Amino acid sequence: MFDLTGHVALVTGGNSGIGLAFAKGLLKSGASVAIWGRNSSKNAIALAALQALVDEQSLPGGVAAFACDVTSKASIEAAFEDTLARFEKVDSCFANAGGSGESQMLHDTSDEDWNAVVNLNLNSVVHTYQPVIRHLMARKAPGKLVVTSSVAAMLGTGMRAAYSTTKAAVVGLTKALAVELGRAHIQVNAILPGFIETEMSMNTPQQFRDACKRRTVSGEIGTLEDMEGIAVFLASPASNYITGQSIVIDGGQSIYPM
Ligand SMILES: NC(=O)c1ccc[n+]([C@@H]2O[C@H](COP(=O)([O-])OP(=O)(O)OC[C@H]3O[C@@H](n4cnc5c(N)ncnc54)[C@H](OP(=O)(O)O)[C@@H]3O)[C@@H](O)[C@H]2O)c1
Repeated sequence: MFDLTGHVALVTGGNSGIGLAFAKGLLKSGASVAIWGRNSSKNAIALAALQALVDEQSLPGGVAAFACDVTSKASIEAAFEDTLARFEKVDSCFANAGGSGESQMLHDTSDEDWNAVVNLNLNSVVHTYQPVIRHLMARKAPGKLVVTSSVAAMLGTGMRAAYSTTKAAVVGLTKALAVELGRAHIQVNAILPGFIETEMSMNTPQQFRDACKRRTVSGEIGTLEDMEGIAVFLASPASNYITGQSIVIDGGQSIYPM
């Protein structure tokens, strides 16, 4: 049920953090994986690590990295063409690339800063999904669309209104698309991680990180390994009857009133 041999997954922001963890989990389950990222040296380092994993474990899937800035629709279209040229198809798409933007009060936020976060965390997901949906429909193939939202979509997070707003918006997008694409057998879900130590989250104040840790029910912060399984589950037939859902992976941070 979790064997993804023959499956092709696309992971945006797959060159580090949570996206790289998704890519590892998917490869370990037999899928081929295309990772997209802006930074070419990070792409090369991630690709070498993923290829080493494939070689060490004699995994059946292939892996490739493609340069893509997800805030540019043209860059997305080009990366998608490159991905199809390499793997011939895409079965699942993890729209994971994102960022938190500046830490600032809403009334001090310029339109430029606000729009940058909207472009990165919301418009990029729409622009990434569009060619994937067209491709799945042209093939009349089932598929899986997954966005990385955040517990910030549900909880109040001061100083990062654009982040919370965009992460909540993709939850709405997830429900709308789940309905729109249901008859085409394309499932659409959102993953809502709590605090996970990555390049992005290391920029948050120590006090905030300590508070997140205290709020996990085990007292431990989640690791990147904790992110691998959900990608496998949501790409696999095991999740075929799950759509429009927001799946929280936060060690209990959002249910523990510490
Ligand atoms: N870490 C957490 O605690 C946490 C919690 C909840 C949700 N999330 C979400 O998880 C996702 C991944 O973040 P992370 O924590 O794993 O941080 P990360 O390690 O900093 O990864 C961010 C990824 O996004 C890519 N990216 C950023 N801007 C991009 C752009 N314009 N075009 C293409 N790729 C871009 C980065 O690649 P380049 O550097 O090459 O651009 C990188 O691969 C984000 O959507 C984030 O909001 C994280």
